[in-house]
Amino acid sequence: MIEYRKVDGSFDLSGKSAIVVGGAGGIGGATAEMYAKKGANIAIADCKDNVKEAAARLAETYGVKTIGLKCDVTKQSDIDQTVAAVTEAFREINILANMPGYVELESAECIGVDVIEKHLAINAVGVFRMSQAVANQMIKQGKGGKIVCVTSQADFIAIDKHVGYTMSKAALVGMIKVCALEWAEFGINVNGVAPTVVNTYMGEKAWQGQVKIDMINAIPAHRFAETDEIAAAVLFLSCDESNMITGEDLVVDGGFTIK
Ligand SMILES: NC(=O)c1ccc[n+]([C@@H]2O[C@H](COP(=O)([O-])OP(=O)(O)OC[C@H]3O[C@@H](n4cnc5c(N)ncnc54)[C@H](O)[C@@H]3O)[C@@H](O)[C@H]2O)c1
Repeated sequence: MIEYRKVDGSFDLSGKSAIVVGGAGGIGGATAEMYAKKGANIAIADCKDNVKEAAARLAETYGVKTIGLKCDVTKQSDIDQTVAAVTEAFREINILANMPGYVELESAECIGVDVIEKHLAINAVGVFRMSQAVANQMIKQGKGGKIVCVTSQADFIAIDKHVGYTMSKAALVGMIKVCALEWAEFGINVNGVAPTVVNTYMGEKAWQGQVKIDMINAIPAHRFAETDEIAAAVLFLSCDESNMITGEDLVVDGGFTIK
């Protein structure tokens, strides 16, 4: 059962421990910062080398406990070590923000199967590996928890040259729904946040030149999203204010998928 807890709209996370996967920069970095502002202790897990520096900066700025762990979500041993290290550091894990991401654009008739498999290994299977390991820890703790994965507007519409990325994010939406169904009895909410293009390394890699101009023109809000706007949606799905929402894929797209 996912319990009712009275809420006051403060989105408070004090006393909670969170892992942000893909938290060394981009949307993950903004999410880690927002969680820290709301009082959570934060583990930053990412395959980048700067995890420890990113974690130390948060601790210094917001006075919360942090830990930085190098983790490649395609490796089960990294996943297991990360969950064990965070449990040891914070005693429990209450929130998982799960957003490692990879994109390589190519037309469907040319893309290599190895590139398709890399998308699936990181964006879908890697996210599942971490969700499963953290959910098992949450089940052991017996207090429920929150899992929020970052999906994409590509879940809802076809986008040119996005076949590998879209296959992986569609698989992720399937995972979110099934895990939400199965883990509700343990008090665990599982949700997605589906952004439009966001001004990050990944957003800039995928959207340059004329396609960028055309895309901005196609978004009713007439701009790309900023990382804090996505982090705010992740925060909402990470606190008690959203306890009655599970299995959802919340679109944050300035209206792009209305049409
Ligand atoms: N930027 C966009 O336009 C956009 C739009 C929709 C969805 N998203 C999704 O948002 C999430 C965050 O992306 P971002 O825009 O912040 O991009 P980003 O490139 O800044 O962040 C992605 C992070 O994932 C990490 N990562 C990649 N492979 C990993 C692996 N194997 N193990 C662990 N970490 C790994 C990277 O090191 C990086 O820190 C991704 O899941 C992405 O698919 C991004």
